[in-house]
Amino acid sequence: MRRCDELGAISDQSGRLTRAFHSPAMQRANQLVGSWMRAAGLKVREDAAFNLLGIWPSARRNAKTLLLGSHLDTVPDAGKYDGPLGVLTAIAAVEHLRATGATLPFNLEVVGFSDEEGVRYQTAYLGSGAFTGTLRKIDLTRIEEKGIMRARRSKKEFLGFCEVHIEQGPVLEQANRPLGVVSGIAGQSRLHVEFHGRAGHAGTVPMDLRRDALAGAAELILAVERCGVQATVGQIYAAPGASNVIPGYVTLSIDVRDMEDGRRISAIKTLRQKAKQIATRRGLRLIWKMVQETSAVWCDKEMTEVLESCVRRNGIDCASLPSGAGHDAAVLAKICPVAMLFVRCKDGISHHPAESVKPSDVADAIGVLANFVETLGARHA
Ligand code: HGY
Ligand code: MN
Ligand code: MN
Repeated sequence: MRRCDELGAISDQSGRLTRAFHSPAMQRANQLVGSWMRAAGLKVREDAAFNLLGIWPSARRNAKTLLLGSHLDTVPDAGKYDGPLGVLTAIAAVEHLRATGATLPFNLEVVGFSDEEGVRYQTAYLGSGAFTGTLRKIDLTRIEEKGIMRARRSKKEFLGFCEVHIEQGPVLEQANRPLGVVSGIAGQSRLHVEFHGRAGHAGTVPMDLRRDALAGAAELILAVERCGVQATVGQIYAAPGASNVIPGYVTLSIDVRDMEDGRRISAIKTLRQKAKQIATRRGLRLIWKMVQETSAVWCDKEMTEVLESCVRRNGIDCASLPSGAGHDAAVLAKICPVAMLFVRCKDGISHHPAESVKPSDVADAIGVLANFVETLGARHA
């Protein structure tokens, strides 16, 4: 918990926690977390995508690797647990296992991914995408750091990936459960939409002659809210941005999620038709761009059963729940089996400085994670 506090003070912005891909604060965060990895006996390096990696090699030759961890980047004005908790609990589990003299038949690697949130370039998962070799060419056109694909790892290396993460919702707290295993991760689509109208004088252009881009955007935002799946407009920009000028240009983001890819895709189709109708009726030009899509992912059944048995073995009644939030595990699932362990968070608050967890729940998560590694170790002995 002290480490979460210390890491939570490393930010690109004063007075609030923000760490974006490959920023000065991310570099300082990698140094600090890297020192904790080294102190835990891990061999530390940073890959070409600025992912922080700490490995505990197995004595067995040509051993496979079990990957633990999460991301170290944050949203703007973030809480200090979304991402970092998964990296720091993995380091704590390594410390615990090494203290008990454990020897493992696989390499154990802890990763701090460099960009799960996608705040800098609006393309989430740059770190885990480069690591798994699943980034698309178009993602690379959007970023300065062209060399990140050299971080690519072979799918043959990995036994699997287990990510500890705060739930970021209220389900575990409502069910009075400290921990839960994740059944699946919702698919998500990130879109960029523009309305081009005509700026004009707020006092002289009659209401029925306007081409008001912001009024058009407002109609679309309400349609997003009513589209029947998890859908959010998180960003909006109106120009020229003066109170006495009719906005001639608006951009907005749309984030759509669902466990069913078909439902998500059809909701987006309906929203696009609505946007076209609004634009036609109001004399606006519409630009509709899909920035990034990640399909829904089901966690590996066998690994999740092992994780669940470890929760129960620690005397905890285990819940199973889907994740509406995206996670690096959704990307790692493209190259290896994944499992996720959720930790209860107060009032389900996340992506907000009020994010908080109970130390006893974190201790449970560390115990379960260490037990999960030992159990897999026994199975692969
Ligand atoms: O947006 C998400 O679901 C995650 O926090 N990146
Ligand atoms: Mn997040
Ligand atoms: Mn996260």
